[in-house]
Amino acid sequence: MPSVVCVGAQWGDEGKGKVVDLIAERAAVVARFQGGNNAGHTLVVDGIQTVLHLVPSGILRSTSVCAIGNGVVVDPDVLLQEIETLETRGVLRGPDALKVSATAHVILPTHKRLDRAREAARGDKAIGTTKRGIGPAYEDKAGRRGVRVGEYVDAGRVAEKLRAHVMRANSELEVLGEEPFSGQELEEMIARARAHGAQLLPYVADVGALVADAIDADQTVLFEGAQGAHLDVDHGTYPYVTSSNCVAAAAAIGTGVGPSAIHRVIAVAKAYLTRVGEGPMPTELHDPTGDRLREKGGEFGATTGRPRRCGWLDLVALKHAVRLHGAQDLAITKLDVLAGFDALRVCVAYDIDGERVERMPWDTAALARATPIYKEFAGFGEIGAPQSLDDLPDAARAYLDFIVAETGCRLALVSVGPARGEEMWLADPLAPV
Ligand code: IMP
Repeated sequence: MPSVVCVGAQWGDEGKGKVVDLIAERAAVVARFQGGNNAGHTLVVDGIQTVLHLVPSGILRSTSVCAIGNGVVVDPDVLLQEIETLETRGVLRGPDALKVSATAHVILPTHKRLDRAREAARGDKAIGTTKRGIGPAYEDKAGRRGVRVGEYVDAGRVAEKLRAHVMRANSELEVLGEEPFSGQELEEMIARARAHGAQLLPYVADVGALVADAIDADQTVLFEGAQGAHLDVDHGTYPYVTSSNCVAAAAAIGTGVGPSAIHRVIAVAKAYLTRVGEGPMPTELHDPTGDRLREKGGEFGATTGRPRRCGWLDLVALKHAVRLHGAQDLAITKLDVLAGFDALRVCVAYDIDGERVERMPWDTAALARATPIYKEFAGFGEIGAPQSLDDLPDAARAYLDFIVAETGCRLALVSVGPARGEEMWLADPLAPV
């Protein structure tokens, strides 16, 4: 059976959680490979809404084992809270159903305080981070001074690691004019880590081996991405990005298998565009149409509650994301939100300094000067519960057909509502090609 990566093709919040939940029905393992609890997936099953930040969205399927790969940064407070909530609701069947890589890095209280302090210090150049400590945790990983889950759960090693961290963080916090950690806070942090360690230990595993064994046994592994291509630290709108690689290729590195383990890539895009945080977004609408998209689409962050910036679909950015991901399949979500608009627009090129540009520039400053060049489409009315593309209004069909043809992907899924069943499968990403 093929293994599939499901990734975001915009700036995050594309509705990957729902797509993962649907594919997970047939996956033996669902593995997250990057990001942390900056992500937020809202899932609606049997009318009950579940918001997950760290645990893979596949957890709502009793048949899959969920894994948090080495590429993820793990906040133990958040993970234990999600485990408790999922256990109380009878969704999580004990540690056999959820595994955390021993080599994933831990988000410490120092990282969260530093994230807040650095954002405040950036003033009007702030990135608009989720303030969850993601960037500082990845910095410590790259700086070879991070704490890995396997060390965190080791009561004998964690105290020394935390002391060193607090010393380093305090010197930076003082420079930034922020409250350093007191001796008492440090001791509390150590005690808390030891309590966490005992709770987390049953979940800690060699995720690479788990994923590789599943692939060797010809089972389906679903790699679940977080954020989106344009938030990728290498390929996104730097510096207005997250601190991890969000592109599909990161699935291999972030779980501990080679690239040949990935057979298919399904990229998820909303039928329009949203972004949270700072950074350029050429098609952003600062007008009643943008407000209407936000209201109709419920575009408020699942993690921070921030109103999302809304605008028309940016096909230049989407085509770039498809290339970065190497996506063969496309899932379009929230098509229903576009119903009722008189006319729709899709950005097909940018005007940058008087020149028509059809590729996303590498330079974020140039992208910030881009004016979208639009192609107009007729609007369409409510689309109900279509079972096939033929059930869609002609104008909705024309809109989709154009996007699909331009991206060169196969249209695998169209989602028209948040709940399971409010979608049309048009191609099966798990079928051998
Ligand atoms: P960080 O990941 O908290 O460092 O935030 C960096 C940027 O990525 C900010 O613009 C965030 O709003 C954005 N971001 C991080 N995670 C997500 C996500 O899951 N969805 C959308 N935007 C995100």
